[in-house]
This record gives sequence, C-alpha cells and structure tokens, in this order.
Amino acid sequence: MKELGIYVHIPFCKQKCYYCDFVSYTSKETEKERYFKALQKEIETQKNEIDRVTTIYIGGGTPSMANKEEIQKILDMIKQNYIVEKEAEITIEVNPGTVDEAKLEAYKKAGINRLSIGLQSTKNELLKKIGRIHTYEEFLTCYQLARKVGFKNINIDLMLGLPNQTLRDIEESVEKIIKLNPEHISFYSLIIEENTPIEKMLEEKRIALPSEEIERTMYWKAKKALERSDYIHYEISNFAKQGYNSKHNTNCWKQKEYLGFGVSAHSYQNKKRYCNTSSIIEYCQNNEEGKSQNNQVICEIQTEEERRKEYMLLGLRMLEGIDVQEFKHKFIQNPLYLFHQELEKLVKEELIEVDLNQIKLTNKGLDFANLVWEQFI
Ligand SMILES: C[S@@+](CC[C@H](N)C(=O)[O-])C[C@H]1O[C@@H](n2cnc3c(N)ncnc32)[C@H](O)[C@@H]1O
Ligand code: SF4
Repeated sequence: MKELGIYVHIPFCKQKCYYCDFVSYTSKETEKERYFKALQKEIETQKNEIDRVTTIYIGGGTPSMANKEEIQKILDMIKQNYIVEKEAEITIEVNPGTVDEAKLEAYKKAGINRLSIGLQSTKNELLKKIGRIHTYEEFLTCYQLARKVGFKNINIDLMLGLPNQTLRDIEESVEKIIKLNPEHISFYSLIIEENTPIEKMLEEKRIALPSEEIERTMYWKAKKALERSDYIHYEISNFAKQGYNSKHNTNCWKQKEYLGFGVSAHSYQNKKRYCNTSSIIEYCQNNEEGKSQNNQVICEIQTEEERRKEYMLLGLRMLEGIDVQEFKHKFIQNPLYLFHQELEKLVKEELIEVDLNQIKLTNKGLDFANLVWEQFI
C-alpha cells in the first residue's frame, strides 16, 4: 500500500490581495454552490481504495470562505472513497475575518487537526498596503478562538520583503508571533508575480520594495530569532517546533504521490504530473457531464533521469538536505557519482556541502536558493 496525499483547492477569496496570483475568484454564492457539487463529483470519480491517505490539505484561495457544511461534506466524501489513516494530518487554510467559533468547532468535529492562518505581518498599515482584508487584532481573535476550541497544531504565514517594510517591522512581527507560540511558522519572501496589482504599483513607482540586501538581512534576523525560540528551520521558508513539520508538504518535497482535486489542482502519480484546468466554468461543466478526466492535462511524464534530478532539487529545499542512503534505496544509484559534476561545481561556489551521507545547502546556498535550482536544471 502506497502512501498518498490529497490536496483540495477552494478557489474563492473575499478580495484579491495585491501580490497574489493563486487561482481564486470573488464569486457569487450560486457559483460557489455549483463548484462544490463539481468538486464532490471529482472526488467520487477518482475513488482509490488501494493507497493509504496520510495527509489531506484544503488550500486556496480561502477555504474558510466556504460554509462549514461544505467542508464537512468534502471530508466525508474523501473518507467514503479513500482509505484515510486514523492519524492522518488534515490541514485547512484560514484567513482571519472569514471564521468564527462555530466554524472552527465544525472543522475540529470534521477531523481537521491542523490550521494554517494567513497573517503576513502584524503591522496594520502594511496589511492594508498589500490588500489584506483583516487587521492584526482580527488575526489575534481568530488565533485565540482556534486555541479555545482545541487546535493544537497551528501554522502562521508571514511575509518578508513587503513594500516599505523595515527591519524593525520584521523584528516586531517575529517577537509578537513567538509570544503566541504557534507550532509552525511559514516565512515567505515576496515574489512579484506577473500581472498582479503589486507589479503595476511598482512599475508606476507608487510603492518601493526593500533592497535585496535588506530583504536578506530580514530573513537572517527572522531565522535567528525563531531558532533562539526553539523553532527548527527545516525548509527554506518553514520553521516548526520539534515534531510539527508539515507532513503534507514534506511528503511533496520527498517526491511522494498526491492527488489534487479542484480547479488548477496538481497531482503526482505513477511518475506523471497532472494539472486540472484553471477555468472554473470548464471544471464545473466537465464534472457535471461525468467527464472529470477531461479537466486533467498531463504536464510531465518523468523519465528515471528526470525523477532523480527532481528528487535532488526538492531535497535541497529541506535544511537536512538529501540523505545519500535514501537516494540509493529509492533509485539504486549513488547520487555522489551520478551528479558528480554538478555537485563539484556547487561545492566550489560554496552553495552546497557534501559528505558521504548528506548533500545540503550552505548558508550562502540558502540565500541563493533560487539560483541553485536553476544551476541544477
Ligand atoms: C493560499 S494563501 C493562504 C491562505 C489564505 N488565502 C490567506 O491568504 O490567508 C498561501 C500563502 O502564500 C503566501 N503567498 C501568496 N502569494 C505570495 C507571493 N506572491 N509571494 C510570497 N508569498 C505569497 C502567503 O503567505 C499566503 O498566506
Ligand atoms: S493571499 Fe490568500 S486571501 Fe489573498 S488573494 Fe491569495 S489566496 Fe486569497
């Protein structure tokens, strides 16, 4: 029995944040109802009673925009059509300002055991500047309610490199969040995506970003403060208390299989990467007509060589790096010989360090992480 992850995409947001290019819409209630019906059809159609589901991740968009009954129904459908382990990690993404106590209680009752709350910054002025719908105080209410109803595994999303963000802002955000003691913190560097309002605002010089040097200083300051408070930096953008690494994401970085349901959701199975259509109309129509398969496009059929390369790239995202023995076990090849030339080049540039057991990023490599991926490919 293979291990399997399930991702469910909920493509609705109250308002689009200026930096975000995730597939999400500010749709009407009737469109949402239609989508949830289509989603249930897809979950049923893909039925799998062979593999062992160890993680479920309900992401978006803003899944907490959905009625609690819709989320309950989706989880029931998954449990009816797949073998979900009793101890499975079940996460839902939550946006402050879209949940109340009753919703959080319903999540808990439905078996959700991990919350991921999008905050980005503790400074209200900054939140407004990036188009967030909530204040820091509203986030605090959401966090405290989540604790009150009994959530014991909470992630908070933060961002660095935001327009006009200062080192002091980062220090303040980190100090305040550490005091709350969440089990997991994701710290993302702002990426300027094409065709987003923030890109336009930058072009028109209505906002300015911190320099690359300041952005890197922010990263290292945040990293050090979090590590001093017993958060383990286990992936480029992720920190967790001992035992609280995100299982769902870790499995993706370890190249384990997952099924994605919903518009634009990705799947990885049998050495193939699939992607669902990003047109919500097409997605709903195909499911309504019993043609769920038509929503899927094969993005990649991997050769063994491609699989090995991808495993290396994904593995380097994690601070513990690539375990040479694990690689040998999976691919019956030694990565130290197989990638001899690439590794030597990266070692010379001090971007990675290599010994007989492990291949991992150096501090310089962490700073140049994006560059490393490109050099590898
Ligand atoms: C799907 S959203 C999380 C849930 C919810 N929609 C919210 O925003 O609160 C996932 C996270 O990705 C990060 N993110 C989104 N767009 C980003 C970008 N352009 N650059 C860096 N991080 C980004 C944000 O931290 C966000 O919380
Ligand atoms: S960051 Fe979250 S809330 Fe904002 S638009 Fe993207 S998915 Fe929606």
